[in-house]
Formats: sequence, C-alpha cells, structure tokens
Amino acid sequence: MQAHQIRKLFSAVARRYDFLNSLLSLRLDKSWRRETVKVSQVSSASRVLDVCTGTGELALAYADNVGTEGYVFGSDFCFEMLAVGKQKVERKRRYEDFIPIEADTLTLPFPDNSFDIVSVGFGIRNVSDLELGIREMTRVAVQGGKIVILEFTQPNNAIFRGLYYFYFTKILPFIGNVISRNEDDAYGYLPRSVLQFPDCDALKSVMEQCGLTDVQFYRKTFGIVAIHVGIKV
Ligand SMILES: C[S@@+](CC[C@H](N)C(=O)[O-])C[C@H]1O[C@@H](n2cnc3c(N)ncnc32)[C@H](O)[C@@H]1O
Repeated sequence: MQAHQIRKLFSAVARRYDFLNSLLSLRLDKSWRRETVKVSQVSSASRVLDVCTGTGELALAYADNVGTEGYVFGSDFCFEMLAVGKQKVERKRRYEDFIPIEADTLTLPFPDNSFDIVSVGFGIRNVSDLELGIREMTRVAVQGGKIVILEFTQPNNAIFRGLYYFYFTKILPFIGNVISRNEDDAYGYLPRSVLQFPDCDALKSVMEQCGLTDVQFYRKTFGIVAIHVGIKV
C-alpha cells in the first residue's frame, strides 16, 4: 500500500484504534509494549524516539520508565492518530510524557546521533520501504544506541497457527471493520500485511544489512509477535 493510502487508513480508524487494539488482542497489546520497553533496557536518562507512534501507546509505555533527565518523542505522519495521543496525555494531565511530532519515518526531522533508543511498535510493517525506514531510525540513534522493533509475526506451532490464522484472517477483520465503521477493509489489511512481512530471521537479516549488530529477537505469546533489538555500531 502507498503512503497516502496508509495515512488515510489510519486517519479513518484513529478514534477507535486504542479500543480495538485492546479488544482484538484481549489486552495482550499492553503487555507486549511493556516487554518491548523492558528488553530495550531503558534508563531514567534515556532519550527515546518512538516512530510510527500512532496514538502514542508505546511512547507512553517508555514515558513510564524515563525519569526527569530523559524524554520521549513520538513521531507519526498521520495527524489524526497523533491527535488522539495528544488528547490522551491532556486528559491524564501528563503533558510532558511524550512530545508528538508529525513526521514521516523515512525522513525524520532529527540530526544524526540524537537518541539512545529508537523504537517502533506495529508500525515498520506499514512503512513503504522497510530497509530505508530502519536505516533512518538507525541514523538518528547514537553509537551504541538501540533500535527496537515490536511487530506481528507468524507463530511456529502448526496447530496454534491454524487456529490463530482463522481468528486473525476471518474474525478479527469482521469485528474490526464493524466497530471502526470502516468501509475500506482497514482491519482486513492487518492480516494481509502481516502475512507478507518478513519472518523473524529475515527481519533480523534486514536489520544487519542496515548496519545493526548483535541483533536478537524474542517471540512472545506463541510467536504472535516478536521484539527485535539491534545495536548501532
Ligand atoms: C498500527 S499503527 C501503530 C501505532 C503504535 N505504534 C502502536 O503501538 O499501537 C501504525 C502507525 O504507523 C504510522 N505510519 C505508517 N507509515 C508511516 C511512515 N512512513 N511515517 C510515519 N508514520 C507511519 C501510521 O500512521 C500509524 O499511526
């Protein structure tokens, strides 16, 4: 899908995005994001950029772990998704939790070597050029900084995979499209894009091609999602 179509898709579902995430993942999405923060070994002084931040859910999970010396930026090219994130922090009066920035992940408006951690949750799959996206994330990370990718992947176990795919390709799109009142099959796009996305080993190779070292990945919940972490040399 092209960038303008992706932006349109997310602007259409922005208002119901958080609710549907929780519902369709049985609230597992929260624990996946917490795990992502944990494996990135964030510290109280970490400078974090969460790209494709959407409504800021992963950025907010980082904000819970960054002290007053650190900060969290959340960038996304969909204004409506960012607006929902901004309303969330305003409602909770946690204004300094994350700083929303409207920006394309392929051309980030930050100088080289700016962040200790550059993360992305369920977003890199949507970026039109995967390698360019990871290279741009790497550019803005400091030497020794971490690039952290939380993304859906394909479960290993054949029996579980069969059951899960039935839910993921048939039930989830139906519920998602009805509740978000989306007529463009936004929630049908989700399983299609996941099935086309590189598996864990292939994503690890792409990260290495982008110059990252010591790339590790951790499968979670029977391999529904995986967290990849690589270090910028
Ligand atoms: C599935 S949402 C993920 C939101 C959030 N990270 C989370 O954990 O729920 C994907 C987001 O990626 C954004 N996105 C996709 N391609 C992008 C790009 N090239 N630049 C910036 N944002 C992009 C979309 O606008 C959308 O908000």
